[in-house]
Amino acid sequence: MPFYHKLGEVPHKRHTQFRKPDGGLYREEVMGLEGFSGLESILYHHFLPPRVKTVENLGSTQVEYADFGPLQHRAFQTADFPIGGDPVSARRILMGNKDVTLGISRPSESMPYYYRNGQAYEVWFIHEGSGLLRSQFGSLAFVSGDYIVIPYGTTWQMSLNEPEARFFVIESPSQIEPPTRYRNKYGQLLEHAPYCERDIRVPEELETHTDHGEFEVRVKVRDRISRHMLDHHPFDVVGWDGYLYPWIFNINDYEPITGLIHQPPPVHQTFQGHNFVVCSFVPRLFDYHPQGIPAPYSHSNVNSDEVIYYAEGNFMSRTGIDRFDITLHPSGLPHGPQPGATEASIGKERTDELAVMVDTFFPLQVAVTALEFEKPEYMASWLEGSGE
Ligand SMILES: [Fe+2]
Repeated sequence: MPFYHKLGEVPHKRHTQFRKPDGGLYREEVMGLEGFSGLESILYHHFLPPRVKTVENLGSTQVEYADFGPLQHRAFQTADFPIGGDPVSARRILMGNKDVTLGISRPSESMPYYYRNGQAYEVWFIHEGSGLLRSQFGSLAFVSGDYIVIPYGTTWQMSLNEPEARFFVIESPSQIEPPTRYRNKYGQLLEHAPYCERDIRVPEELETHTDHGEFEVRVKVRDRISRHMLDHHPFDVVGWDGYLYPWIFNINDYEPITGLIHQPPPVHQTFQGHNFVVCSFVPRLFDYHPQGIPAPYSHSNVNSDEVIYYAEGNFMSRTGIDRFDITLHPSGLPHGPQPGATEASIGKERTDELAVMVDTFFPLQVAVTALEFEKPEYMASWLEGSGE
C-alpha cells in the first residue's frame, strides 16, 4: 500500500500487447480494491489467472464465540499455546467482532500449500521466529518484530527458518493501513509520523515459475476455505506494478512519541482499520516533568474495547501479567494501573516494554477457544493490597 512499486517486466503502456519470447501473450490481471477506485496493481501472468482444475470445500472458518457473561476485565495466557501445523492451519482466533479478529499461531512447519484470503486483510506480527513470505508480488524475508501486512487477494506461502514460531495475527475485512493523520494529501508519511517510507520493506525478489504440475491454493472467502487445484504454479507473474502488495514494518523501527507529561494511547498508533486501530508500545523514555507520573491514569474506554498482547519487557502498569499474555479491557468499565504501580513508576526514566495493542470501537466477543487460556483472577487484581 504505501507507495508505487514495480518488479519484473511490464509493458511500456498498460493494457497493450505484451508478448512472451514464443510470441504468445502474457495475461494481464488488474487487481484493485473498492471496484476500480481503490489501491490497484497490474500483474502479468504466464497463465490465465482464472485457470483452476478442481474446486473443493474444506469447511467453515466461522468463529464460535462464547457468551461474554458479566462485564469484567479479562486476561488470557498464551505462553503454552499449542504448537503444531503450518502458520495458517495453526492460527486460532481468540476474540473478534465484525470489524476485526485477533488470534495466535504457533506453527512448527512451513506451508506445503498456497493461501489467499479473499475476504480480509491480514497483519502477522512476528513475535518469535523468522522465515520467508513468498507471494505473486515477490518475496519478503521476515524476522522477529515484523508486522507483515498482506492485502486481500494476495496468494502467498510462508516458510519458517526455525522449527517453531509465534505470531499474533490481526485479520480484518477492511483495509489495514498507516493512519490518515500521518499522511499528506499525496499519501506520503509526514515528518511527525512515527515511521516513514524508509522503514517499510517491500517485495524484492520476484519468482516467476512457468512449470505445470499440481499446486494447491486454499482460498478463504465467504467464511469458508475452498481448495483450488491448479495445473500450473501460482507464482507465474513476470512483472507487476502499482500500490497493492504485501509489505513489512518492524515494531523496533517505531519512533516513540514522548512528552513533558504522559502521552495518550494515540501516540502509539501504527495502523488503522475500519472501526479499530493497531498500536505499538516500544522501549522509550518516560515523561520529563519533575512531578510527572509515568504510569497511565485510569481511563474509561468509552465506545472502545482494548486488547494488549504483551511481547517483551516488563509492562509497567500491569501486575500479574506475563510475557505472551493478552488482556481485554472492555468498554463500560475503567481500567488503569493496579495498586502500587502508579507509585512505583515515579522516578523511572524509561521502559523496555514491547506490546501490540488493538483498540476496537465496537465490543469484542471472546471465542470459545480462548476460554481454556483465561486467567480468571485478573479482575480481582485491582483489589489486592490496595489499602483503599
Ligand atoms: Fe488502556
